[in-house]
Amino acid sequence: MIKRTYDWIDERLNITPLWRDIADHEVPAHVNPATKMSAFVYCFGGLTFLIIVTQILSGMFLSMYYVPDINNAYYSVQYITNQVLLGNVVRGMHFWGASLTIIMVFLHMLRVFFTGAYKAPRELNWVVGVLLFFIVLAFGFTGYLLPWDQKAYWATSVGAQIAEQVPVLGPYIRLLLVGGSTVGALTLTRFFAIHVFFLPAALLVLLGAHFLMIRKAGIAGPM
Ligand code: HEM
Repeated sequence: MIKRTYDWIDERLNITPLWRDIADHEVPAHVNPATKMSAFVYCFGGLTFLIIVTQILSGMFLSMYYVPDINNAYYSVQYITNQVLLGNVVRGMHFWGASLTIIMVFLHMLRVFFTGAYKAPRELNWVVGVLLFFIVLAFGFTGYLLPWDQKAYWATSVGAQIAEQVPVLGPYIRLLLVGGSTVGALTLTRFFAIHVFFLPAALLVLLGAHFLMIRKAGIAGPM
C-alpha cells in the first residue's frame, strides 16, 4: 500500500533522484567518528542544525499560547508553564535549547577554525557562517524579552543602552529596537515579530546557502 502510493507519486514528480542524491552521498573517512574517534568534532554543525529544528518545533507550540502584549505576555507564559499539558517541558526545551544552540554553534565555529576549513574556496561560507552566528545571538536577545518579567525588562533596557553606544548610528539602532523612549508595548510586539518572522526567514535563507555551499565545495580534506 505504502509502496504503491510512493510509486504513484514518484511517477508524477520523479522524487527518487532528489533523496537518493542525499542518501548516496559518501562521507569521507576523516569525518567519520566510526573510523576515527576524534572526527566527532565534525558532528557539531549537524548537531547545531538538529537543535535549531527542535527550537523551531518547540517555538511553534509555544506560539499557540503565548500572547505578545504587555498585559497578557507574563500571564500567558505562566499559563504555559503551570496549566498547559507538557507546557513546562516544551518551554524548558525552548529555554535550554537557546543556550545549547549558542554553545553548539560556537563549538562548530571552533572546529572550522582549527581545521582551517575557512580557507579557499570556503571563505564565503565562513562569511555566511558569521551571519548565522549573529542571527542565533539575535534570537537569544529578542526571545529574552518575551516572558515580560523583571529580568526580561531590565536585560532589554541594558541591551538597548549598549546598542546606543555604537558610534553615530547608536541612537537610531536603539530607536529601531525599542520603538520609543523606554522599553514598552512597542518593544514587545517588535521583538516578537523579529523573533518569530524576521529572524526565522533570514535563518532559513542563510542555512540554505550554507548547505548548498557545503555540497558544492565538499567537506574540507584532512588536516
Ligand atoms: C546556524 C548555525 C550553523 C549550522 C546549522 C551549520 C551547519 C553546518 C554543517 C552541518 C556543516 C557540515 C560540516 C560540519 O558539520 O562540521 C557546516 C560546515 C561549515 N560551516 Fe557551518 N553551520 C552553522 C554556523 C556556522 C558558523 C557560525 C560558521 C563560521 C563562522 C560556519 C562555517 C562553516 C564552514 C566554513 C563550513 C565548511 C567546513 C568544511 O568544509 O569542513 N558555520 N556547517
